[in-house]
Amino acid sequence: MSKQDTHFFNVFSMVIGLLLAIAVGIFALARIVASHTQDLQVMSEPDYARSVNARLQPPTREAVAGKDNSAMAIKVEGPAAAGSAVAAMPKNGTEMFEQTCSACHGQGIAGAPKAGDKAAWAPRIAEGKATLYEHALKGFQGKAGVMPPKGGRTDAPDALIKEAVDHMVQMAQ
Ligand code: HEC
Repeated sequence: MSKQDTHFFNVFSMVIGLLLAIAVGIFALARIVASHTQDLQVMSEPDYARSVNARLQPPTREAVAGKDNSAMAIKVEGPAAAGSAVAAMPKNGTEMFEQTCSACHGQGIAGAPKAGDKAAWAPRIAEGKATLYEHALKGFQGKAGVMPPKGGRTDAPDALIKEAVDHMVQMAQ
C-alpha cells in the first residue's frame, strides 16, 4: 500500500466514524424529545384510548337475562367518555322512569297516565302486570294515545323496562 493510500484510508475511516457518531447522537436526541411529546400525546388521545379499550374486550360477550349486564358496556375513561351521544343506560327501574318514561308519564303528556295518579292507573293495574309489561315492551295504542315500545328506549333490556313499570305501579298505589 502506498503512503497516499494509507493517508486516504485513515481520513476516510475518520469521516465515516464521525458521521456514524452524529447519526447515533441525532437518534438519541430524537428519542429523548419524543418521550416528552409524541408518546404522551398518543397515550392521552381519546380515540386511541377507545380503540385500545375495545381491543382489550373479550371477543364475544353474552347478556344474561335478569342479571346485571352493565359490565358489557365498553367503558371509556377521560375526555372521550363525555362525548358519547347515547345517554347512559339507567341502573334500575327508578332511574329508567326518571330518564325516559317521565317525559310523558311525569306530567301525563299526550294521553299518558300520569305517574302517581291513582284514578288513572287503577283500571290499568286491574289488567294485571303481564299486560302492563307487554304494553310497555311492545308498545300500545289505546284510547288515550300511543305508548311507544319501551317508551322509545328500544336499546334498554326488557328487565329494566319491567322495573320501570313496577316503579310507576308502586307510585299509583
Ligand atoms: C312518548 C310518550 C311516552 C313515553 C316516553 C312512555 N310512555 Fe307509557 N304510555 C304513553 C301513553 C300515551 C299511554 C296510554 C296509552 C293508552 O292507554 O291509550 C301509556 C301507557 C303506559 C302503560 C299502561 C299500559 C296499559 O296497558 O294500560 C304502561 C305500563 C306504560 N305506559 C309504561 C311506560 C314505561 C315503563 C315507559 C318508560 C320506559 C313509558 N311508558 C314511556 C306514552 C308514553
